[in-house]
Amino acid sequence: EGNTYFLLLNGKFVQSESGKTITGETPFDGTPTYTIQAATKAEIDRAYESAALAQRSWRQVALWKRAEIVHKAATILREHVDEIATVILREVGKNRKSAVSEVLRTADLCDYTAEEGLRMEGQLLVSDSYPGQPRNKLCLVQRVPLGVVLAQGPFNYPCNLTGSKVAPALMAGNSCVVKGPTQGAVAALYLTAAFHFAGVPAGVVNYISGRGSEIGDYLVTHPLCNCISFTGGNIGLEVAKKAHMIPMQMELGGKDAAIVCDDADLDLAAKCIVSGAFSYSGQRCTAVKLVLAVESIADELVQKVVERTRALTVGHPEDDCEVTAVINKAAADYAESLAMDAKEKGAKFLLEYRREGNLIHPLVVDRVDESMKLAWEEPFAPVLPVMRVKDERAAVAFANRLRYGLQGCVFTRDVNRAIMLSSEITAGTIQVNGAPARGPDHFLFLGHKDSGINAQGAKWSIEAMTKLKSVVINLP
Ligand code: G3P
Repeated sequence: EGNTYFLLLNGKFVQSESGKTITGETPFDGTPTYTIQAATKAEIDRAYESAALAQRSWRQVALWKRAEIVHKAATILREHVDEIATVILREVGKNRKSAVSEVLRTADLCDYTAEEGLRMEGQLLVSDSYPGQPRNKLCLVQRVPLGVVLAQGPFNYPCNLTGSKVAPALMAGNSCVVKGPTQGAVAALYLTAAFHFAGVPAGVVNYISGRGSEIGDYLVTHPLCNCISFTGGNIGLEVAKKAHMIPMQMELGGKDAAIVCDDADLDLAAKCIVSGAFSYSGQRCTAVKLVLAVESIADELVQKVVERTRALTVGHPEDDCEVTAVINKAAADYAESLAMDAKEKGAKFLLEYRREGNLIHPLVVDRVDESMKLAWEEPFAPVLPVMRVKDERAAVAFANRLRYGLQGCVFTRDVNRAIMLSSEITAGTIQVNGAPARGPDHFLFLGHKDSGINAQGAKWSIEAMTKLKSVVINLP
């Protein structure tokens, strides 16, 4: 209704009985965006109860039929790409081109996940493959749904990272309670609505909005919640402690390091580092958040990085600028505090520090050392630290001291070196001669250490949202 958006409970869009709403504002000029509902605990109960009840029938719906619905949701997303992209642009300040690509990427992900869901296979074991056993038992191993999945995505991909949870959950035979990020809530609601209008039965997909600080704990500790699929920041560590014996799929940020060896193609490395560090203003878990440059090539690399950084367009998302305002003032203040801490401790700003409201101009900070917070923390903003190291061993040693382990990248022309370094870096994925990235979305995506639990990627997400079960046939 106008600029006011509702909850989706048991197949119906409803206003919250709380009478409380939250009105968002754009990250770039603070103008009001959309008004969302602040759901009550009773409404969260209804969402879970409807989901639990509906899941009993949904799991019996033929796989081809489930796939048909997920494909239909993809079609609906494509049909509404401009509308949803506008919502993303306004809610989270992503430029139009990237917002459009987020929606289309989500549609592709739904299509691929629908196909992958059809290929879920079981296993058959025979008893006499074990020493001394007669052939009188057959063990049928299959994957079964978990039940109700709480799908909670972050602000930076409010459509895509909600879809990457809902699509595999549904293909696996689960139902969902979707909790949108407060900034990004309407984009997440559009995503949920695509499944609703695609023909998902009432209760299979429900949507809740509200402040995480008020309803977050209630959502993640709900007795009817059977799986938490969460992407976000450090708060995920708290969620993991609070939730009791529930399967989880979590992606909680990163401090992806780009290790540049002395034999690297420095133009390639600089290009990947700049796009990796500054696209969507550094607000990606997989952004390059630290450059570890071997001393002998560091001057030349840094010069190339700075040249390319200067060429980035900075400004309004509607003008398709590469660097736009970060999500809110607290985020901008935090990134600024990391940069200033580094400067006070002796790091060098290679570009002038400029900030207008939440818009931070891209900044390369050289000669960062381990006394500085910028060496360890993720700015989630267009602030790129460069640390100079003696050699690639020292680079790997430092990367492995970081508490995150999402991705890392190695730039070298020597394939043996690439393989050896990759095997030594503790992270879910190592990119050789390329920037960190989650996609394409059928690739394995996961964090080691504090970066997460369980894997994503179409096939692995379905696995994470199912459990194994066996039936043993005892033959006469
Ligand atoms: O920050 C979320 C993370 O999943 C990044 O995705 O596609 O930007 O590498 P992507």
